[in-house]
Amino acid sequence: MKALVFQGPGQIAWQDVPDPVVKGADDVVIRVDVVTICGTDLHVIKGDVPEVTPGRVLGHEAVGTVVEAGAGVRTVRPGDRVLISCISACGRCRFCREGHYGQCRGGGGWVLGHTVDGTQAEYVRVPFADLSVHPLPASVDSHDGVLLADIFPTAYEVGVLNGGVRPGDTVVVVGAGPIGLAAIIGAGLYSPGRIIAVDLAESRLAAARSLGADATAGAAEEPGQLVDDLTEGLGADVVIEAVGVPEAFEMCTRMVRPGGRVANIGVHGRPATLHLEDLWSKDITITTGLVDTYSTPMLLGMLAADRLPSSSLITHRFELGQMEEAYDVFSRAADTGALKVVLGGPQHNEIIAPAQP
Ligand SMILES: NC(=O)c1ccc[n+]([C@@H]2O[C@H](COP(=O)([O-])OP(=O)(O)OC[C@H]3O[C@@H](n4cnc5c(N)ncnc54)[C@H](O)[C@@H]3O)[C@@H](O)[C@H]2O)c1
Ligand SMILES: [Zn+2]
Ligand SMILES: [Zn+2]
Repeated sequence: MKALVFQGPGQIAWQDVPDPVVKGADDVVIRVDVVTICGTDLHVIKGDVPEVTPGRVLGHEAVGTVVEAGAGVRTVRPGDRVLISCISACGRCRFCREGHYGQCRGGGGWVLGHTVDGTQAEYVRVPFADLSVHPLPASVDSHDGVLLADIFPTAYEVGVLNGGVRPGDTVVVVGAGPIGLAAIIGAGLYSPGRIIAVDLAESRLAAARSLGADATAGAAEEPGQLVDDLTEGLGADVVIEAVGVPEAFEMCTRMVRPGGRVANIGVHGRPATLHLEDLWSKDITITTGLVDTYSTPMLLGMLAADRLPSSSLITHRFELGQMEEAYDVFSRAADTGALKVVLGGPQHNEIIAPAQP
C-alpha cells in the first residue's frame, strides 16, 4: 500500500510500505476512506516529537471501513464505517478505568502516527479496537466525522473544560488554527460574555470571527491591551493556548486575570518561561493535557443532531494520493488560507482485505 512516511526532520514521502495486518486479538485493520493532517504532524516533521522515528507512517485522525478484525474484537466487524480516534485505550489500566485514555499505560494513549504506524495511509492497523474506534451513524458524513478524531475532543476537553469556561466569562483563544477554532465553537456552548481570538494570520482571525469570536487581535499587536480594554484592566477569565510555542504560552500567562485559568493545548518542543515573579500572587491555575477523547461519543451525538458546525473548518479536499500536496497547503496556511485539509472520499462498497505478507 501507499503511506505518508516520516523520514527524519523536514522530510516526508508518500511511498510504498507493507500492508498492515491484524497482530493482536484486539486489533482491526481499517481501509482509510477520509483522513486529515494535524498541527501535531507539523510538530513531528519539525522534530519537536523525538519519539517519532524515521520510517513511521504519520497520522492519527481518520474515518474508514473495517476490513479485518481480530478474534477478540466485539463491537465492530468488517464492513463497518468507523471514526478512528487519535487516542487508543487498553481499557484495563488505572488511567483507562478513570477515563484518562490519553495517559493509558497498557499500550494505548496517543500511539497512532507516534509509536505505531498511523492513518495517513491506504490501510491502518488500530490496536484495542473496541475502545479506540467509534461506529459512525449513517447520518454523519465522513468528512464532518473525521474532525471528531482529534480537534473537537481536544479543543473541548483540554481547552474548554480544563479552562472551566462559564457563562459570562471573557475567553481568549491564542492560536486560531483548527484547534483554536474548535475551542471557539466549544466555548460558545457555555454562553461566555465574549470570545477574543489572537493569531498572526489575518485569514485565521477572519475564520475566528465567522465561527463566533467577538473580537480579534494580531499576535504582534499588543493583544493584551485589547483584553485589558475589554475587561476594565482585569484580564481574561480563561485563556486557551492553541499554538505550541513559548511566546504564545507566555502571552497567555500575561493576559489572564487574578484567579483565572490558562489551559494549554499546544504541543511544545521548546521550554517556555513561567514568570513566577509576576504570577506567584495571582491565584491562577494552569492546566496542561493530552486529549483523552472521553467526550467523543457526546460530540458525535451533537454532530448527528446537526449541532456542531464541523464542516465549516474544512477548506481543502484532496485525493488520498495527493498527500504531499495537502501537507504543503496545510503547512503554508497563512498563504493558502487552509484550516482543515481532508483527503479521500466515499469509496466503492467492495471491501478488499489487504494482502497477507
Ligand atoms: N494537547 C493535545 O492533546 C493536542 C491535540 C492536538 C493538537 N495539539 C496541538 O494544538 C496546537 C494547535 O493545533 P492546530 O492544528 O490548530 O495547529 P496550527 O499550526 O494549524 O495552528 C496554530 C496557529 O497558531 C498561530 N500562531 C503561531 N504563532 C503564534 C503566536 N506567537 N501567537 C499567536 N498565534 C500564533 C498560527 O498562525 C496558526 O494559525 C498545536 O501545537 C498542536 O500540536 C494538541
Ligand atoms: Zn492531532
Ligand atoms: Zn489503558
